[in-house]
Amino acid sequence: MLDYRDGILHWRTHNLAQIAAQVGTPCYLYDLDGMCANLRRLQRAFPQAEIHYSLKANANLAVIRALSAAGAHFDAVSGGEIFRAVRAGVAPERIVFAGVGKTRHELDYALRLGVAWINVESGGELACLAELAEALDVRPRVALRLNPDVRADTHPHIATGHAAAKFGIPLDEAAHLLSAYAPERAPYRLEGLHVHIGSQLHSVERTVEALQAALALIDRFPFLRTLDLGGGFPVSYDGEPMPSIEAFAAAICPLLAGRDIRLILEPGRYIAAENGILLVAVQYVKPTNSGTFYIVDGGMTELIRPALYEAIHGVLPVRQSSAPPSLAHVVGPICESADVLRTHIHLPPLAEGDLLAVLHAGAYAAVMGSTYNARPLPPEVVLEGDSWRLARRRQTWDDLLRDEL
Ligand code: LLP
Repeated sequence: MLDYRDGILHWRTHNLAQIAAQVGTPCYLYDLDGMCANLRRLQRAFPQAEIHYSLKANANLAVIRALSAAGAHFDAVSGGEIFRAVRAGVAPERIVFAGVGKTRHELDYALRLGVAWINVESGGELACLAELAEALDVRPRVALRLNPDVRADTHPHIATGHAAAKFGIPLDEAAHLLSAYAPERAPYRLEGLHVHIGSQLHSVERTVEALQAALALIDRFPFLRTLDLGGGFPVSYDGEPMPSIEAFAAAICPLLAGRDIRLILEPGRYIAAENGILLVAVQYVKPTNSGTFYIVDGGMTELIRPALYEAIHGVLPVRQSSAPPSLAHVVGPICESADVLRTHIHLPPLAEGDLLAVLHAGAYAAVMGSTYNARPLPPEVVLEGDSWRLARRRQTWDDLLRDEL
């Protein structure tokens, strides 16, 4: 998929140097066909599941449209994400609304639109939802998000299913809310459970534990007919072995066999991560005793994952070189020591103006971008078949001032 042709890195049929010459750097590129292919692989692994793409991973309108056309449903965690999805043409009945701190305004918006499910994360939220639903005379479908007290095998910043996490409702409290549920009186239909123990899960075992906790509740409360198992399916960022989606399916599906349960999954990273590249250009070359610093024009404002989670992203020079590689650090221009894209990598010698492709930037990259240091947000380019187009233009300095009074 990524290879050198005539000495230049190509992604599928696309010459990365040519795209950079036209749109400038830094810029993000997304392969929409690759995202749809990953969606189909998920659909094959879990034929009984409804796949809700997690918008938080990458909510570019072109991405939403492509995945929607390929049959995805969507997981939103804010009114803004619902708004984006609806603007991209997604029917509200294909959207699940999750999130630990939904405001009354966001809940009201979701109820008026008629989203498919509201995943509730506390007794307080359930009470608030009941009040709003009553006022609007609607009867939304609700799933309780469980906190199964399972420690996910992942970076602590993205583990969400243990007792000390802010997410979800502890099992005993969930059982209490379920016992108190009176379908004839409640202004909502409490019909599902939701569990998401974390992201970039390194093993399937903890997911199975969480699933078993959810099934134990479902056995006690048979009116729960839908189980949303969240996302978390991992990708291999730097060649490390990770369980495949098929391994997750092999662990999960037998536990559901023979049960009349509708399964929902909310993958984000698995669909988008490998189908995005951040292109940056070398500004300066700084040789030091501990390796060469390549100071590039993108950094933690474009990809915060290395700074926030010590994430390791692959980096490839766009111009092929046969010169021997040496120790290098690819760092951004931002005034923070954490502003690194990749440290301790071996790269062939690079010169000012040379381009680098930072891999796996399709998920949790642009969406986590910021304008820190008054840096305008970069453009987003989408590739589809043999053509590419600008999906979002580069911000200008004027754009950064537009909302200030
Ligand atoms: N469902 C829920 C309730 C979630 O909280 C998340 C992610 C997902 C689904 C999608 O998870 P995925 O399939 O993408 O693992 N910024 C971090 C990841 C944060 C994930 C937050 N929740 C990173 O860059 O690694």
